[in-house]
Amino acid sequence: MRRLLLAGNWKMNGLPADGAALARGLAQRLIDAPAVDIAVFPPFLSIPGVVAALKGTSIVVGGQDLHPAASGAHTGNTSGEMLKAAGCGSVLVGHSERRSDEGEAGEFLAQKTRAGLRAGLQVIFCCGETLEERDANRTLSVVRGQLADGLSGLTPTELERIVIAYEPVWAIGTGKVASPQQAQDVHAAIRSWVGQTWDAGTARAMRILYGGSVKPGNAAGILSQPDIDGALVGGASLDAASFDGIVRAQAQEA
Ligand code: PGA
Repeated sequence: MRRLLLAGNWKMNGLPADGAALARGLAQRLIDAPAVDIAVFPPFLSIPGVVAALKGTSIVVGGQDLHPAASGAHTGNTSGEMLKAAGCGSVLVGHSERRSDEGEAGEFLAQKTRAGLRAGLQVIFCCGETLEERDANRTLSVVRGQLADGLSGLTPTELERIVIAYEPVWAIGTGKVASPQQAQDVHAAIRSWVGQTWDAGTARAMRILYGGSVKPGNAAGILSQPDIDGALVGGASLDAASFDGIVRAQAQEA
């Protein structure tokens, strides 16, 4: 019922020409991809070239960040409306690297979520605990707190355009992937929180992605879990063959 979403977060990697070449590689490889949703999140300056390279494919292009305002005196920022006009269909909010590098949290992220919806974008809202928080048995309270801060007040209709990405900070870019069971446990808890906060139908429909060192070799085990509806992939999305391998790993499992 929930369609899998495989999303590639390119972070601050590649010049615009590299991004366009990677997009062309993905378009070629994924032409006969299984029936899943696919999205890529290039650096801002690469977005126009990637949008052009993916024209005519069903691969969605997204922004890695946005500012809460539509326009104005916000030097260095980019709005959801600008992303939408550039051909984007999605945006990441609350990625752990923005939380740690830029100190983003709380109400500011809620504003970004609402700005993405206002601009007509899908919002992939990221959450996840640090190793210290996991060791202190605080995983679920941290994750629920981040989600409550970022999503509370949204209506069930607005939530149809929200995707949650659970990304344990200790697994991002470290090569340490959560075990399928560890990830499934948190995903199930997130789904039950959505059900308690809104309703059972919203919880059943909500897509929850796992992120953190997903690779072709570990994707099938993660994606076969009942509450895991896709992956947000960093490092392994920078190579067309390995991202393709992740997309096809799920097909074998399905
Ligand atoms: P990683 O990054 O796959 O390189 O661990 C995931 C992410 O940060 O979204």
